[in-house]
Formats: sequence, C-alpha cells, structure tokens
Amino acid sequence: MNYIPSEERYEQGTNYRRCGRSGIKLPEISLGLWHNFGGVDVLENGRDMLRYAFDQGITHFDLANNYGPPPGSAEENFGVIYKKDFLPFRDELIISTKAGYLMWPGPYGEWGSRKYLISSLDQSLKRMGLEYVDIFYSHRPDPDTPLEETMMALDYAVRSGKALYAGISNYPAELTKKAAAILKQLGTPCLIHQPKYSMFERWVENGLLDVAEEEGIGVIAFSPLAQGLLTNRYLDGIPDGSRAAKSWGYLREDQVEPALVKVKKLNEVAKLRDQSLAQMAIAWLLKDQRVTSVLIGASSVVQLKDNLAAATNLIFTNDELSLVEQILKS
Ligand SMILES: NC(=O)c1ccc[n+]([C@@H]2O[C@H](COP(=O)([O-])OP(=O)(O)OC[C@H]3O[C@@H](n4cnc5c(N)ncnc54)[C@H](OP(=O)(O)O)[C@@H]3O)[C@@H](O)[C@H]2O)c1
Repeated sequence: MNYIPSEERYEQGTNYRRCGRSGIKLPEISLGLWHNFGGVDVLENGRDMLRYAFDQGITHFDLANNYGPPPGSAEENFGVIYKKDFLPFRDELIISTKAGYLMWPGPYGEWGSRKYLISSLDQSLKRMGLEYVDIFYSHRPDPDTPLEETMMALDYAVRSGKALYAGISNYPAELTKKAAAILKQLGTPCLIHQPKYSMFERWVENGLLDVAEEEGIGVIAFSPLAQGLLTNRYLDGIPDGSRAAKSWGYLREDQVEPALVKVKKLNEVAKLRDQSLAQMAIAWLLKDQRVTSVLIGASSVVQLKDNLAAATNLIFTNDELSLVEQILKS
C-alpha cells in the first residue's frame, strides 16, 4: 500500500535541537538501524517502525555499512523501504552512514584509510539507492592511519557531494579536538560526534561533552537504553526474541543479570515520575543541552511509541537526580 505520511508529522510534539553551531537541527530522538533491520529480520516490521517514526516527525535515521546481519543488509533493506515509502520525502530526512569496522576482506576493508572510507561510502550509497547521505561518519578512530588522511577523506566525501556533512564516532575527547581542528582547516567543519552514552556508560562526561561544546560540535548519544537493559525488557528474565536472547544480538546474556539490581531501583524512580524506565533513561540524557539527539533502537512500533513519549517530561527535580546518582554509584 502506498505510504502517505501524516500531514501533522511536525505537530506531534517532536522537538528539534540545533546540532552544535551548524545550520542543522535534529529531532531530540532519532532512530538507529543497527539491530532489527537486517537480513535476519522481518522487513515489514522495520518498515512499520520507519513509517511510524516519520509520522511523528522523526527526521533522522542512522545507519552504517556493517549493520545487519549480514553486514550491508540494513542498508539494503533501508534502500528497499526508502524507494517504496520515502523517495518523495528525501529533503525532509537526515540519513547517516559510517565506515570504520570490518566490511570486506583484505587490507582495505576496515579502519580509516581514504581508500576504505571512500569505497565504503560508494557501496553504501548503492545499497541504499541514494545520491548522497546527509552525514558520513568515521565510525572509529584508526590508531595506524594518520588522522589527517581520515579527515581528508571525510572532507572529500563532502566536497564530492557524496555527503553533506562530516561526523566522527567513538573518538576520545583529545582526538576529537585534533580531528575538529583538521576538519576546520580543510573547510568542512565537524558537524557531530556519535558516542555511546547512557546512565550506564558515562565516559563522555569526562571531557568529550566539553570539547563538543567548545568546538561547536553536536552530540548524538548511541545505545541510550544500554541495548535494552535500561527498560522493562529484562525485569522478569530474558524473553524470547529479545536482543540478549538472539545469537546475533550484541547484548550478551551474561550482561543482563549483573545490571538488574540497579535496573529495578531505577525502574522505581521512573514510576515516581510517571514514566517508563526507557522514557526516564532517554529524558536523563536530554536534560543536558549539549546532547543534540538521543539515538535509540527499537524492535517494535510499541517500543518506539513508548520511547518517543519520553520527550514530554525532560525535567528532573534535584531529589530525582541525586536518587538516580545514588543508584548508579551504588
Ligand atoms: N557509532 C557506533 O559505534 C554505534 C554503536 C552502536 C549503536 N549505534 C547507533 O545507535 C543506535 C541505537 O543503538 P541500540 O539499538 O543499542 O540502542 P538502545 O536504544 O540502547 O537499545 C535498543 C533496544 O532496546 C530495547 N528497547 C527499546 N525501546 C524499548 C522499550 N520502550 N521497552 C523495552 N525495550 C526497549 C529493544 O531491544 P529488543 O530488541 O530486545 O526488543 C531495542 O532493540 C543504533 O541503531 C545505531 O544507529 C552506533
């Protein structure tokens, strides 16, 4: 059936934040296609989620060359859905992809060389059926390739029209500063940094958020729900079909149990706020204005709906904040 997006998509309560000191605004909550959009997944379920998200004003979908499994299949599936549903709405969308992790055999299939990054971007564009992506990321720093080469490749991606903006992901604070300086010099400012950030993973608070603010770089926090741990998903064990139960899921079964004591306590705080735990975990990140967007994953429209409602209550009292801190530090 032809997809006709909701005419009220920009009146559904989705707020947009400026990405660093750029001209781009991103929705406070963005949707990532790392899990649940691959060749092993049900395409129509992914399609339902993308349609639902767009109907709610979610304009940003995040991919990478290796998302699947198998690697590349999330981009392929996105391409199929994009062609069927989103082609007329290209100018309303921010679509990102990345290169950095292993994608093909041999010495040119991963890390940060110009050879790998540009070839990978060309492959991604083909798989998705796009003329350009909005953001192209270096997915991880490469200890062996000169930073200048990796940044020059991002600059070239933008200058050649294959990407509109450049981003970096998983770069520590000091390296981010250096990368930003090189990109600035090249004339392609770094638009955005994509770090892992959640109540359970707070390394960005030790410098990266400050660097991003100083440099005018936006921040989009990935795995904000700690892959599902910071939700009600595992409160009563590991359900069939959950990420921890799947052989290809990145969340391992043995990561669940040790987190549960804190998860249960946090769930009680969420209840006091009249939120689900997922909503509170997202709101807790968005309370910091340096965070441009929170990049969630979801395996169903029901989860997506739950998560998007987080934006209705981003305010924490001091008591709530210290309670959360106490639990996280216990
Ligand atoms: N740059 C990088 O290196 C990097 C790395 C990882 C991810 N990312 C990006 O970040 C995106 C999000 O990562 P993520 O999927 O790990 O994010 P996440 O939001 O922390 O976890 C998503 C998972 O949590 C569960 N979930 C979500 N909402 C729920 C709800 N309301 N109630 C119960 N369970 C819920 C689902 O698990 P079930 O599947 O069990 O239902 C879902 O698949 C990725 O798609 C990707 O775009 C980037």
